Amino acid sequence: MSRLSYIAVAIAIACSFSSVRADDAEKIFTSKVRPLLARKCFDCHSAKAEEVKSGLKLDTLADILKGGSTGPAVVPGEPENSFILKALRYEEADYQMPPSGKLSDEDIAIVEEWIKKLKSEK
Ligand code: HEC
Repeated sequence: MSRLSYIAVAIAIACSFSSVRADDAEKIFTSKVRPLLARKCFDCHSAKAEEVKSGLKLDTLADILKGGSTGPAVVPGEPENSFILKALRYEEADYQMPPSGKLSDEDIAIVEEWIKKLKSEK
């Protein structure tokens, strides 16, 4: 192989890695995060909700990044700065979500893992 084709191969491999990682976050969102939000949050935070609470919709990644009255619900790659996680962990007295009772640690971990993975899409 010529030197140029080595470079081409290296670029192709690098690109496929980054797209695998991007797919990862999307796959986790579709298969795990969204169903969880749909079950636990959509009554109050969905385009289909009777009344969208705090202006926050959780239907799509775009909705989540846009966030509600306090700003974006998620900062990609930064779980500790993502408001949604503070709400799920009941760290904010006024925003304990869902209000009916804290999610299991496993469910919260799924959301945290997804936020970490989101970074690679930026
Ligand atoms: C029964 C209705 C209800 C459910 C279910 C619910 N929320 Fe909320 N949510 C609210 C209300 C009402 C507010 C506004 C703050 C308040 O008054 O407590 C809010 C605010 C928020 C905010 C802050 C938005 C902002 O920017 O002001 C976040 C983040 C949030 N909810 C996430 C969630 C998540 C994630 C779930 C599911 C795990 C969830 N909520 C389930 C009613 C709900």
